[in-house]
Amino acid sequence: MSNTISALILAAGKGTRMISSRPKVLQTILGEPMLLYVYRALEPLFGRNINTVVGFGAEQVEAAFPDRAGTFVLQEEQLGTGHALQVAWDKIVAGGAEYCMVINGDTPLVTAEAVEKLTSRAGKADLAFMSINPPDPGAFGRVVRGDGQHVRAIVEAKDYDLAVHGPVTGEVNAGIYLLRLSTVGPLLDGLRAENKSGEYYITDLVGLAVENGLKVEGVSSGADVNLMGINNPSELIAAEQTLRKRIVEGFIDQGVMIHNPDTVIIGPRVSIEPGVEVFGHVEIYGESSIKSEAALNSYTYIIDAVFDSKCVVRQFCHIEGAHVGPECVVGPYARLRQGAVLKRGSRVGNFVEMKKSELGEGAKANHLTYLGDAEVGAGSNIGAGTITCNYDGRNKFKTTIGEGAFIGSNTALVAPVTVGKDALVAAGSTITKNIPDEWTAIARGKQSNLDRKMKKS
Ligand code: UD1
Ligand code: CA
Repeated sequence: MSNTISALILAAGKGTRMISSRPKVLQTILGEPMLLYVYRALEPLFGRNINTVVGFGAEQVEAAFPDRAGTFVLQEEQLGTGHALQVAWDKIVAGGAEYCMVINGDTPLVTAEAVEKLTSRAGKADLAFMSINPPDPGAFGRVVRGDGQHVRAIVEAKDYDLAVHGPVTGEVNAGIYLLRLSTVGPLLDGLRAENKSGEYYITDLVGLAVENGLKVEGVSSGADVNLMGINNPSELIAAEQTLRKRIVEGFIDQGVMIHNPDTVIIGPRVSIEPGVEVFGHVEIYGESSIKSEAALNSYTYIIDAVFDSKCVVRQFCHIEGAHVGPECVVGPYARLRQGAVLKRGSRVGNFVEMKKSELGEGAKANHLTYLGDAEVGAGSNIGAGTITCNYDGRNKFKTTIGEGAFIGSNTALVAPVTVGKDALVAAGSTITKNIPDEWTAIARGKQSNLDRKMKKS
């Protein structure tokens, strides 16, 4: 059935209740915009057949998802969820599917299973929607059922009138709808903004469909907390906690040894192989990937980094956009920045910073060093306090260090400069000229020993 269904996400609202200048769907959960989670839940069923209505901060929202260019519909004025649907309608119809699944963009906990449930239980309905029975119906739209439990309408909390609509049942609208385009389309012009908010409500389509003799189905998902919308900061933080736990427990079930799991944060795009060991207070975000038997120790922050098998990250490291090869050892207290590449078995120790630099197989930079725009050959040893001076205030320059070189402690390598293979740099040197292979360079003031008592000899 899902081949004949497209999806539409409503994401144009400002999210006033978030008390933030950022569009609500770009508020982050585990380092990713809320909207990403909705895409991930819809993708298994709808592939790329997903459109999104944007409005408040539209440019920012579109820019956050560059690979989805062409799938956005602009709702210039946000006149309500029904209006958002009206604005997108022509694009939906042009897609050629028989049905459209419409979902609120502020529902990041939604799962592919929940979406699937609505499509499979909708039967032959012209309009089906998902309902839930949360502990507190709060500001959700109330589902009104009549004789034989047939749905009559969804009435927004603000507009609910006990005298007219009867006692509240606790069943509310989750904000996910499945619409048959041919029969629901003609109802769109019938939406009126005659309510407490002065908005066009998508939920009014339910009452209109019933009045027009269409088949309407409310599919109950019980107390499913995954369908709660996010409207304020505390709901966002609660959703983040739920997702964090869901992701961490998922990895534990797949054989990732996560110690002290309540303190570990893993983003939704991170991949971790079974056999990896993660200790407490580690945060892993972005497009990170961790291969089997790697070990990540406590108090480490990782984003967009790759760790090959059997590498070890010791405590207190900050790692961003780096590739740590197999059997490498990093830290404690190391900082790997964008483009840091560690080849097999290399080591980076305490208070070492690397940026756009490669450390060859088995090479070592164990203490107090900055390697920027540098290429270090296999087996080289970078002494404590070595600095690549890669920046002259305007441009960046490269430092090349050959295989098997030995850089003595407290050396400044003023780039562009090349240290040859098996060359040696004496401690305390400031190197400004290339050093040939197998040569020794010494570049420091000569030591003079002066007699402290200034006695004549
Ligand atoms: C909506 C439903 C309510 C339901 C609840 C579930 C309506 C009228 N009410 O209420 O029945 O219980 O969701 O979470 O639909 N949006 C637009 N354009 C607009 C207005 C909103 O795209 O002009 C988007 C928002 O960005 C948001 C979604 O629609 O992602 C829902 O809007 P929101 O204002 O959060 O609706 P609720 O009051 O939560
Ligand atoms: Ca909402």
